[in-house]
Amino acid sequence: MELQNAKRIFDDAIRNKYGVGAFNFVNLETLKSILESAEENKSPVIVQCSTGAIKYAGVDTLVAMCKSYAEKMTVPVCLNLDHGATFEDCKKCIDAGFTNVMIDASHLPYEENIEVTKRVVEYAHSKGVTVEAEIGVLAGVEDEVSATEDQAKYTDPKQAYEFVKATGVDSLAIAIGTSHGTVKFKGEAKLRFDILEEVEKLLPFFPIVLHGASSIPQDMVKLAEEYGATLSGSCGIPEEMLREACSHNVCKVNVDSDLRLSFTAGIRKSLAENPSNVDMRKYNLEGMKLIKQVVKHKMDNVFGSSNRVM
Ligand code: G3H
Ligand code: 13P
Ligand code: ZN
Repeated sequence: MELQNAKRIFDDAIRNKYGVGAFNFVNLETLKSILESAEENKSPVIVQCSTGAIKYAGVDTLVAMCKSYAEKMTVPVCLNLDHGATFEDCKKCIDAGFTNVMIDASHLPYEENIEVTKRVVEYAHSKGVTVEAEIGVLAGVEDEVSATEDQAKYTDPKQAYEFVKATGVDSLAIAIGTSHGTVKFKGEAKLRFDILEEVEKLLPFFPIVLHGASSIPQDMVKLAEEYGATLSGSCGIPEEMLREACSHNVCKVNVDSDLRLSFTAGIRKSLAENPSNVDMRKYNLEGMKLIKQVVKHKMDNVFGSSNRVM
């Protein structure tokens, strides 16, 4: 089917209390692995590109690949711009065929965040595209934006409420203690579910987005390390916490690092075990198998999005 905006995908997720994975892709291999997982699991799915991925692969190529796979599929696929930094980033993607865009002006002063988000919402809605914005700042690197743990700011629920009302945005990313990358916690994992619950009270049935939601599966870390990777300190969001988040208003769960990790582990293993192989299809396939294993596990056992499309 045609690429979908996020409206119906979120409506169903929020009504039935499950989460939809929003998985980053940068090339055919990542995209194909994610989409095959969604189709086999009968799960709605969001695939997304950062501005870095767009620089790497080209916006038209990414859209064309996505459309051409999605039109042969039976589950809804939404194509999202991840962490658009400016109105121009968002407009470029909307014009190219993206069906959801994120404007991430969370690092700007609050009033400026409202202003640019409103501008994106107005343009996107005129083209049938839905919009995500962000309030609060996650620790770690968000493409062009980076913040240390001290600079990270939890979302203020009242401000989130005002922001949604002022901008007309379709979903909102909030900061409750997750962060981007493979090292999310120094000590014990801790998320501010009290903030999530407060936001849910003020904005009932409004779609909330969790960035930095990779679990960094330890079996993948071990496998990658067995074949030469150095990933000390790697630690993700426990699956139990993600399940709990999805039982609240979180209906978009952003995952990039887990896919990078599993793809790399598979390729490392394949290259080490087949030193005479120079056919990239063979080692790519080993990476793709592991991406599929990770994505399908999340859909089945963590987000609860499998078998939602009949
Ligand atoms: O939110 C950040 C994503 O993991 C994208 O990362 O900008 O390196 O493609 P990237
Ligand atoms: P991870 O680094 O936890 O995979 O987060 C990805 C993300 O939030 C993309 O926007
Ligand atoms: Zn993110």
